[in-house]
Amino acid sequence: MTAPILKVEGITKSFGGVQALRGVSLEIGSGEIHCLAGENGSGKSTLIKVISGVYEPDAGRIEINGQHFSHLNPKEAIGLGIQVIYQDFSVFPNLTVMENLALNMELMDNRKLMNYRRARAIAFNAISQIGFDVDLDERVENLTVADRQLIAICRALLQEAKLIIMDEPTSALTKKEVKALFAVIKRLQARGLSILFVSHKLDEVFEISERYTILRSGENVASGNTEELDRKTFAFHMTGREFADEYYKPAGVKGKPVLSVRGLTLRGAYSDISFDLAPGEILGITGLLGSGRTELAETLFGILQPDSGGIEIDGRAVKIRSVKSAIRRGIGYLPSDRLTEGLFQPQAVDRNLVITTLDRLSSRLGFLRRKAIAETAMQWIDRLSIAVRSPTLPVRTLSGGNQQKVVLARWLANDLSILILNGPTVGVDIGSKYDIHALMRKLAADGLAIIIISDDLPEVLACASRILVMRDGVFVRELDPSATTESKLSELSTGIA
Ligand SMILES: Nc1ncnc2c1ncn2[C@@H]1O[C@H](COP(=O)(O)OP(=O)(O)OP(=O)(O)O)[C@@H](O)[C@H]1O
Ligand SMILES: [Mg+2]
Repeated sequence: MTAPILKVEGITKSFGGVQALRGVSLEIGSGEIHCLAGENGSGKSTLIKVISGVYEPDAGRIEINGQHFSHLNPKEAIGLGIQVIYQDFSVFPNLTVMENLALNMELMDNRKLMNYRRARAIAFNAISQIGFDVDLDERVENLTVADRQLIAICRALLQEAKLIIMDEPTSALTKKEVKALFAVIKRLQARGLSILFVSHKLDEVFEISERYTILRSGENVASGNTEELDRKTFAFHMTGREFADEYYKPAGVKGKPVLSVRGLTLRGAYSDISFDLAPGEILGITGLLGSGRTELAETLFGILQPDSGGIEIDGRAVKIRSVKSAIRRGIGYLPSDRLTEGLFQPQAVDRNLVITTLDRLSSRLGFLRRKAIAETAMQWIDRLSIAVRSPTLPVRTLSGGNQQKVVLARWLANDLSILILNGPTVGVDIGSKYDIHALMRKLAADGLAIIIISDDLPEVLACASRILVMRDGVFVRELDPSATTESKLSELSTGIA
């Protein structure tokens, strides 16, 4: 490794009774892209604030470019080339791009009145350096989140950044914007800058970083070269838990198909789709956005009506004309955006959990039997290991993964024979993700027939007993997860080898 631009050792920081960092060390080489990973509350932001001089650590040493400090103030940190891109980017929406960039130049330049043309040239140079194509006279409020972020990066460059720290920079970006940001990060690296990239997303860590450091509960648990890291190890370090093996093999698929689809066609969405699904199976359907995967799921759940083709349940031809009729036939559907579907955010977790069974739990007089609700809710919390401080807290206080489990629990309370999950772990933290996977396997092993629709290829590989790849509305191939690879799946879903 090249000489480190930053080295911190034994950093400790507590807030009142909360010990946020316990002797944390981190080393970043010059020109290196380093990922700082860790689950929520592991201390990532606190560490960044120590490095950028916002917090004074209780103990520890900081070394920047060979200079030693016990702590810094923000001005010193900036003077040493440390720049942080915070999540709100701290840009001024009512000013133009140029004004946002010039603001700093003026602060930087002691000769008060900087020549406007010179300032403009400098600003233009900054945006060109990262290949950012933007009108300098555009007001920032008219720009996308991704572009605002790039402005914050340009501003950092104008302040002679040597190390740019990005705190979860991708959380508000689309996939395409993430790609663009990664390209910018590579350009910064090519110019000799170092990057500290904070993320808890495994794919991002693998894609962008050369080295990584993982924190858990305020402590270092692992660091090293990213290419020597694998998913399982990453998940273990993040959560401190071991996860089950990679593939799901149904313990001998029992009986006849519970669902048979024959030549199902919905013009403009998908055509001639046929497959069978037996109890105990987890059928993975993968494909890009627009491949027809969601429309297919919505048809099976009675939201959309097919133009032709047939659906059989337990060997009998059926028409699923509505969601109600789907539910009556034992079909459950977990849509990809759980937050807009079905959860009563302000309502308590226990109420949300028992909502489908409320009728059964109500007494003749219409009173909800508090005790019965509490007991049923506790059973589900236990069975699905939902992390909740109290069942009476509102559902919105739960993490995404735990909210997803609440939705699942509600479905499971109905007598289901077929469960369709669409992107069940999008935006969910890694621990909950594995929990949801384990739960799916268990439900299948208990005889449920499951369809999982996902473009998260490792997820499909890990969960499905069989994978169907969908592209442009048709099934292009059926694959055995234990005999295929992520790149093969990606090739089939994109059509690009
Ligand atoms: N200013 C503060 N006052 C009190 N406690 C704090 C403060 N800042 C952080 N903490 C606590 O310190 C711990 C670490 O928080 P930190 O924000 O550093 O975590 P993080 O890894 O950035 O999490 P996230 O992924 O959610 O951003 C948490 O328990 C948090 O509640
Ligand atoms: Mg944070």
